[in-house]
Amino acid sequence: MPATNVSDVVRIEVAPAGDRAYEVVLGEGVLGELVPLAAGRTRVAVIHPPVLRSTATGIVAELRSEVGLEAHAVQVPDGEEAKQLRIAGSCWDTLGRLGFTRDDLLVGLGGGATTDLAGYVAAGWLRGVDVVQVPTTVLGMVDAAVGGKTGIDIDAGKNLVGAFHQPLAVLCDLATLTTLPEAEARAGLAEVVKAGFIADPRILELLESDPTGAAHLPELIERSIRVKAEVVSGDPRESGRREILNYGHTLAHAIEKVENFTWRHGAAVSVGMVFAAELSRRVAGLDDTTAARHGELLRAIGLPVEYRGDRWPGLLDAMRVDKKTRGRRLRFVVLEALGRARAFEDPEAEHLAAAYGAVAAGAVTSTTG
Ligand code: GLY
Repeated sequence: MPATNVSDVVRIEVAPAGDRAYEVVLGEGVLGELVPLAAGRTRVAVIHPPVLRSTATGIVAELRSEVGLEAHAVQVPDGEEAKQLRIAGSCWDTLGRLGFTRDDLLVGLGGGATTDLAGYVAAGWLRGVDVVQVPTTVLGMVDAAVGGKTGIDIDAGKNLVGAFHQPLAVLCDLATLTTLPEAEARAGLAEVVKAGFIADPRILELLESDPTGAAHLPELIERSIRVKAEVVSGDPRESGRREILNYGHTLAHAIEKVENFTWRHGAAVSVGMVFAAELSRRVAGLDDTTAARHGELLRAIGLPVEYRGDRWPGLLDAMRVDKKTRGRRLRFVVLEALGRARAFEDPEAEHLAAAYGAVAAGAVTSTTG
């Protein structure tokens, strides 16, 4: 692992009410901070997808030689395929074989799916062991790995089974992003854009000046993590304000489900935000300019802003079983103004259909739903 230049490292504290505080550490080479976090334990297991096998074996070798730990790499399938009960079960079986105790440490190395799974495995093992999250994608760094939401997917929907389990630390090593495929990096920017609209408009200006994100990537990631850290600290279990992080997500989760999880999360969130912006304009008084800014920026980034018009009835059905639904009432996050988000329940069918009109490619199939 390359040495860390301490001056370039940013430390952002997450202080969830009622839980221990931890740091999100951002910079080149911060993976090296795993060594002090693991010291004093007996075993470490690094959960990773196949593409990160050599990074994982490098970490394992270093932990063995520097701290003398029993360190193991535990490979899981790539992406969303890892977020299955069967895979969580096989990780628990592995921990059982390794004799993992309460004092041992799990590491989630990979994108959002891997860190969601690793967090869930950590939450379940012996009712909760430490996990250090090492996200290697933009999406993982700015969203999935921070805040303690962990989970897996089941047939009825994405993330429907999970637990709140805050990590011991989150290490965002910018060096791991250099190998990220372009489409993956672009999809991650959707959550960055979300942070911009709900809380930090400077993010939008930075992306408008360079929609690839490349020119300002460390600052964009840092600002997005700060938004998430602040929101999560005040409401770790989503009993209130944390819900604003779901801006664009009600429709996004429905699209992901209808597409059998083959769409990238960020791509679905992009469409979902254009929908949410139009809904906000209609039900929450969002100004026309801010509403239009969504589609303009997301399009410039190269993210999708349209989805099939004929899928509307199926999407409505899918939204009704989403976690955000309470009883039978659909819940959305809407913007009253730039940087001011709140929940909105049960919009009238005509507003929903009209908002879908803003993203529908081809004719919208109507529904009485
Ligand atoms: N991804 C939304 C949240 O962590 O609350």
